[in-house]
Amino acid sequence: MTAKLEADLTAAIAAAADLTALEAVRVSALGKSGAISDLLKSLGGMSPDERREQGPLINGLRDRVAAAIAARKATLEAAELDARLASEGVDLSLPAPPRRKGGVHPTMQVMDEMIAIFAEMGFSLAEGPDIETDFNNFTALNFPPKHPAREMHDTFFLPEDENGERKVLRTHTSPVQVRVMNRTNQKPAAPWIASGQEPPIRVIVPGRTFRKDSDQTHTPMFHQIEGLVIDKAIHMGHLKWTLETFLGRFFETPDVVTRFRPHHFPFTEPSAEMDVQCDRSGGEVKIGQGTDWLEILGCGMVHPNVLRNCGLDPDIWQGFAFGCGVDRLGVLKYGMPDLRDMFATDVRWLQHYGFSPFAAPNPATGLS
Ligand code: DAH
Repeated sequence: MTAKLEADLTAAIAAAADLTALEAVRVSALGKSGAISDLLKSLGGMSPDERREQGPLINGLRDRVAAAIAARKATLEAAELDARLASEGVDLSLPAPPRRKGGVHPTMQVMDEMIAIFAEMGFSLAEGPDIETDFNNFTALNFPPKHPAREMHDTFFLPEDENGERKVLRTHTSPVQVRVMNRTNQKPAAPWIASGQEPPIRVIVPGRTFRKDSDQTHTPMFHQIEGLVIDKAIHMGHLKWTLETFLGRFFETPDVVTRFRPHHFPFTEPSAEMDVQCDRSGGEVKIGQGTDWLEILGCGMVHPNVLRNCGLDPDIWQGFAFGCGVDRLGVLKYGMPDLRDMFATDVRWLQHYGFSPFAAPNPATGLS
């Protein structure tokens, strides 16, 4: 009798297609009123001889059936897991969906493009704080004390601190030149802030800058990139080549024509502004064509006083520096009508002008 029951149960276990079916088989055999449980209960009513014979048979049956159910359960669970993993699988070789919610802000895009170009030329990156000492922002850069040039920058001054010092929101990235060159600098306040390096120096400094100014081409907060090269026997030819090479790569045309126009900055001598040739006839500025000129950056040879203020001997070290507006270059390259839109946080504008985060600019695969 137990042999027939065992054969039936073994067949039912093998036929159970899923865990629910298997559980039904288990209940019918080993549950409270299951077939094997009934047999076990019947042992109580047997004579001692009968029990001695039937006991091992019934217990053996129970153990084998329980083991068969456990084995089938493990098989079914493994199959179920495999099926679930297969259904949840992600094909990583598929391209990312073209619809994207976030994008890279044009300012960051332009900064990344500029950094990629200068990095390839061998420049490294330096950074300074937004809140700067009057010394680094003006004095060390050869702005005479109380000189109107300080006002020329429409400076945001902070209230006097306990030492009577008025810090400023930096009006340009040029104070980072001082931080990079000055080896007597106190320990920088944060690990990312540049501190004094031994020349030769070749750095670019991207960062936020601030001036009390707002119109179609000015915003109170904007971004600049500063460049500084200090070495022996550096001259304006190096400066001109560096800037022309940069502008050609940045505007992605071999036809960029530039000119130096004499200018004045307290921290360079001689000083110049660089213009690029462009065409304004269509109401839009086109670089690499036309006969108009557009001022694009300030530059010059680092003033001997600045070198001295930073503890460098101008008879040994010379250098050039330049500074240009990052947002402004973005406006020119990507044809935006108003600089203020850059910081208006209008989502439609950001979606229109934003760049894909999956396309980091690099000189090998292209900039934009
Ligand atoms: N700091 C200047 C400005 O904000 C730009 C500039 C001009 C930076 C000449 C330089 C430079 O390093 O040499 O207008």
